[in-house]
Amino acid sequence: MKILGISASLRNARRGIGNVSLIDEITAISTEEGLNEFLTQEAEFHLKNFIEAGREELLPFDKMYTNLKKLKGNKGLSNSEVALTAALWSAKMLGAEIDHLSLSEYFTESKKSLDLNTLKEKLKNSDGFLIATPVYFGDRSSLAQSLLNMIRNDDELRDSLDTKVYAGIAVGAKRNGGQETTLIYQLMDMINSGMLGVGNDSETTSQYGGTGLAGDVGTMQKDEYGLKTAMGTGRRLARVAELMKISKKKSLVGKHRITFWLLQDKDDRAKEYIKELLLGVDSEQVEASIIEIADKNIFRCLACDICPTHVDVDESYRCIIKSKTDELEVLHKSLIDTDAVIPVAYSPVDRVGLESSYQRFMERTRYLRRGDYVLSDILSCPMIIEELGSDENLDIRMVTSMIRHHTILSKPIIAYEKDGVILNHEEVSNRFLRANSIIRQTVSGKLQVYAEGINHLKYNPVGYVLSAVKDAEDERMNKRIEMVTDRVGKIKLMAERRLKE
Ligand SMILES: Cc1cc2nc3c(=O)[nH]c(=O)nc-3n(C[C@H](O)[C@H](O)[C@H](O)COP(=O)(O)O)c2cc1C
Repeated sequence: MKILGISASLRNARRGIGNVSLIDEITAISTEEGLNEFLTQEAEFHLKNFIEAGREELLPFDKMYTNLKKLKGNKGLSNSEVALTAALWSAKMLGAEIDHLSLSEYFTESKKSLDLNTLKEKLKNSDGFLIATPVYFGDRSSLAQSLLNMIRNDDELRDSLDTKVYAGIAVGAKRNGGQETTLIYQLMDMINSGMLGVGNDSETTSQYGGTGLAGDVGTMQKDEYGLKTAMGTGRRLARVAELMKISKKKSLVGKHRITFWLLQDKDDRAKEYIKELLLGVDSEQVEASIIEIADKNIFRCLACDICPTHVDVDESYRCIIKSKTDELEVLHKSLIDTDAVIPVAYSPVDRVGLESSYQRFMERTRYLRRGDYVLSDILSCPMIIEELGSDENLDIRMVTSMIRHHTILSKPIIAYEKDGVILNHEEVSNRFLRANSIIRQTVSGKLQVYAEGINHLKYNPVGYVLSAVKDAEDERMNKRIEMVTDRVGKIKLMAERRLKE
């Protein structure tokens, strides 16, 4: 599978032949130590480039910038390029074919810009792409914005990128400088343009992508954990791109299972609308269940130090809350026995009579995530029935929470309501049909890939010492091996039963 790394830095070091030589240089690296040495060397080159361009003589930056542009572009890496290189290396180590380009060569102010058709072809020919951007004002660079504008304005390009996989990396000068806002906005824009979105992998606890902390030129290589998130992003992207690619080899037989997590509703508005949408799908292909959670008594998470309570097979409910009045335990099996999760909420202006367990429920799903990502690589596609003016941003919040379950995100389905009428019903129906077809692909891909083994799904308790100790104990008891064996065994059976060439 092909992974394209896209640099959206305004201070990118690599241009022209530098894009090609970077791929050769990455390919020659065989160990993580080798990668770190290379990144340090290239960050130092970048700093040297700045010094030679006039930094020591305190040349005004516009003059320095002109000097920098005269360089060949085959040495050094800017901060976000360092993180992108780490991600590309990780993808390469999983067998991906990699490529690299710098957006500054395509979206210049001068006539010297490269042909945009070349950029479009590179996008079309890749199975997945990584965009690495510096954080500017808590958001992407204008180069990343130009790329997005190009995709949005070009129907043919957008069609050809449909269901390709996207992941992001953001590097900022400050801790909490906006790395996550940048990643989340860009993730929303990419999935809304038709791509599938993923974050970083389980090793750095499945978040929103690569997050780097680096301000001064030549410093990103010092952010060890940031580089790990970038590497995790490269791996996650490569795995999901492979999953989507392999999905074409075998197709799903019979029905796919969709579970609607109905988390917020009033007078059954959302429930009835889901039923209406289901009338439009082929009942021979879809088995849907609506889990009514909005009115359930869901206790708040205890934020306990050891979650889940123990290592066990997925069917076992392992949250510490065992009260009979809490209604999550009885839902446990139905939550996980699915091919796709569609969290659903009705979002009205008048909230009197609204039943919502939204945030309580989301926080209680922690044991599923920490139970080695039981929802891993299933499709998640938020659905909101939103009365105009309700202003709740639930699509963004659902994406933000669901991606942490190691799911694959697709375009949210938002039905806009005014005076009790859904204004965009046809579009919503089409989006729902599209989601169903993507679900069939992801199930096929997941069953094929997972039947080979899934050891990469281990929840890594970064930041939790107690959990780490408990985890080590359970590890000794071989419990986890039993759990993984059980998971793989079931998936193998399913792969035999549910797939055909
Ligand atoms: C216009 C501008 C706005 C910036 N805004 C932010 C910001 O909001 N948060 C932050 O952490 N860093 C911010 N930075 C710092 C850059 O994100 C940081 O220096 C980054 O390492 C640059 O990456 P690069 O070397 O790949 O271009 C800003 C820099 C510029 C030039």
